[in-house]
Parts: sequence; C-alpha cells; structure tokens
Amino acid sequence: MNYIGPESIIKKRQEYFFPATSNFYKEPPQIIGGSMQYLYDQDNKKYVDFFAGVSVLNCGHSNPEILKDTIEQLNKVQHTCTLYLTQPIVDLAEKLAAILPGDIRRTFFCVTGSEANEGAMALARLYTKKSGYIALKGGLHGRTHLTLSVTGIPMWRLDNNLIEDNIYLIDRPYSAESSYEDAMEESLKQLEDVLQKHGKDICAMIMEPIQGNGGIIMYPKDYVKKVKTLLERYNVLLIIDEVQTGYGRTGKMFAIEHYDVVPDIIVTAKALGNGIPVSTFSTTDEIAKAYNRPSASTFGGNPVAAQTALSVLKYIEENNLTARAKELGDYLKQELNKLSSNYIQEIRGCGLMIGMQIQAPDQTRSSAEITDIIQEEMKDRGFLIGKNGLNRDVLAFQPPLVIAREDIDAMLENLKQVLGER
Ligand SMILES: Cc1ncc(COP(=O)(O)O)c(C=O)c1O
Repeated sequence: MNYIGPESIIKKRQEYFFPATSNFYKEPPQIIGGSMQYLYDQDNKKYVDFFAGVSVLNCGHSNPEILKDTIEQLNKVQHTCTLYLTQPIVDLAEKLAAILPGDIRRTFFCVTGSEANEGAMALARLYTKKSGYIALKGGLHGRTHLTLSVTGIPMWRLDNNLIEDNIYLIDRPYSAESSYEDAMEESLKQLEDVLQKHGKDICAMIMEPIQGNGGIIMYPKDYVKKVKTLLERYNVLLIIDEVQTGYGRTGKMFAIEHYDVVPDIIVTAKALGNGIPVSTFSTTDEIAKAYNRPSASTFGGNPVAAQTALSVLKYIEENNLTARAKELGDYLKQELNKLSSNYIQEIRGCGLMIGMQIQAPDQTRSSAEITDIIQEEMKDRGFLIGKNGLNRDVLAFQPPLVIAREDIDAMLENLKQVLGER
C-alpha cells in the first residue's frame, strides 16, 4: 500500500471531518501497523503504545490468538442480529454471568460505551419507575444526549441544551485543594442533600469506579460503599460504568471490586472486544425483568463481536493479564513515584491505569502546555503516552496489559531524560 503520510491525512481530516475531531501531537505519525504492545508508523518506526487506543487493546494489537477466532467466525457467519439464534452471543452471556460481580447475570449487548450507558440508564428508569439521575463532576459517560447530560467534564458537554431537569452533578471525592477525606465528606454531603430533596424522583446514580477521562481519579476506599448505602435508603440504583476500567485493566477483572461493592447495573465496552466493537449492560434477574418491551441493537454482540469477546476473556484468563496488570502497574507506579521533577504534582491510579498529574512550576507555560511537550518528546523517542484530565494536564499510562517490563523500563528511562531536560 502507498501511504499518503501524516500531512495528507491531516489535510483530508480538515477537509472532510467535523471540526470537533482532534488528534494528539503537533507532528503526529501515520499509524500503519500494530503488533501486541507496539505500533508502527509510515517509516516503520516502532512505538511502544502506552494508551492502547484509550484502554481498548488490553490483549494487544492484532493479537494473533484472538484474531484467529475472529477470522474463523468472519468466514462462518458474520451477522444475523438477535432475531436469529446464534451461539457465540449466548456463550458470551453465560461467561459474563460467571465473571461479573455478585448476582449480576443478565446482559444486554450493544456496540459502544455510550449506547450501553444509555441502555443502563433506561433500565434504571423502567425498574424504579423514577426518572432523575445523579452523576459525578469529572465523570464521562458518552456522546448521546442523555449520557452527555450526566457527563461532568465541561469540555465534552458539546450541546448547550443538554438535559438539566432532574439531573444532579455532585462533586467527585477528589480535589486538588483538599485532602481525599475532606473531598469525600463533601461529596457524600452533596449526595445526601440531593437524595433528601429529590430522591423520590431519582432512579440511578451513574459513576466510573475510577474516573478515566477526568484524570485517573480513584476514590477513597469507603466512598463507594457509603454511596451505595445512601442510595439504597432512597431506592436509587447504582450504575457502574466500567467502559474504561473493565477486563483486568486495574489489576482486578472489574475496578468496582477494589471497593468491595456490588452495583445494581454494570456497563462494559472497550476492552471486551479488543478493537472489535461490543458493549454490554448487565444486571440481576430481578432488575432485568423490568426491561421487557421489545428492544435490540442491530450489531450488539453479533457473531464476530461475541466470538472475539469470548476469545478475549479466554486470553485474559490463560495469560493471567489481571494479575499482570497489578504486578506491572505496581512496578510502574513505584518507579514513577521515584522520579523527581518540579513538573510532577501527583501519581494516581492502580494496575495499568496510572495518571501523572503535571504542574507548572512557574508562569512561563501552563501545565497543559508542559504535558503536550512531554507527550510530543516521548512520541519522538518511540513512546505513545495518553493524556486526559479536566485541564488536559494528566499523562495517562494505560498500555496493553501484555506490555513487557523492559518496555516500561525503557519508557521510564526516556521519561526521566525528558523531564530532566525541562
Ligand atoms: C468511562 C467511559 N464511559 C463511556 C464512554 C463512551 O464510550 P464510547 O466512546 O464507546 O461510546 C467512554 C469513552 O471513552 C468512557 O471512557
């Protein structure tokens, strides 16, 4: 294939995309190949991927063991939709019932995280016969009207006419200005307040177990338990959005397990298909009963997606990727914490979902500008680091879980040099 190169791609994007679409880097490469934790550009330059397509490629790019099953399924039967009986989707539903927390055992299959969150939110309405929602500031739940309305990151709230009636965004249990404990107390106080005033109209609270786009924010250990107890008092369901955190990423199969809480509804997407689009919302027998009018997502869990997801789950188990994420993540976090630089404010997260909060030591450049410079220089050195946070000043380390310790060491060595050069 003749590659047109980054400049021509940028030109075509400017001409044919909506202005809403952006890309990382002043000088971005054209990505033409991927193999496990590595990506390759138009000049065959190799990069270690530390972002995994935003937490999607947990099992690595074009993982041959998974692709074998995907291709076999593509050759057998590609698509039918749930109006016809096929096997991969029911095998996947059964497998999910075995690994999802508590007595969550029924699954509805969709395609994207937004669609699954939208479905989960509809389910909560149907079950409780109430209509309002609570969500956390700093959370991200999707791109549909309703999921945007519960998204608490201003830059993503694209529409000035999002739903405000009966939707309550409360502070997350994290603040750069106060301790985790104080921020947790404040968040719980706001939650109780909303529940006291509006609990009889609210069907669910939706939250990520660790905020991803919001800057890799983990909550104090007791927070989610306290939230669940409060919600139960007002017959409000807890929807946990594991779109970014699910399937081994944080050192547990699902990040909610870190808090020892079983939610009412759990939403997954991204890593389940390792690059083939598939998403889910799952719940108990009791709650699922309420979702009883005809409903289907055309592509949701189609044979190719479901067979791939089954293969992904098998690969995660057989290769102990969850334990690997914990072990390598602990190591990465420990080593990042050893770096001494005026630019580092805090290292957060767990497993292979680690954020480095960048700060500006003086007035010359903003923390977001410094983050961009570090990200660009790391790219030039062959390491693709992600970025998120409310001010886009958090470097995100979320590599494929198949990454090797040597890749992490090489990245750390280069990061040390880049930070030292500032
Ligand atoms: C936590 C979370 N929820 C929902 C979404 C939306 O998923 P999608 O882009 O597949 O619709 C994202 C996307 O990044 C996410 O990180």
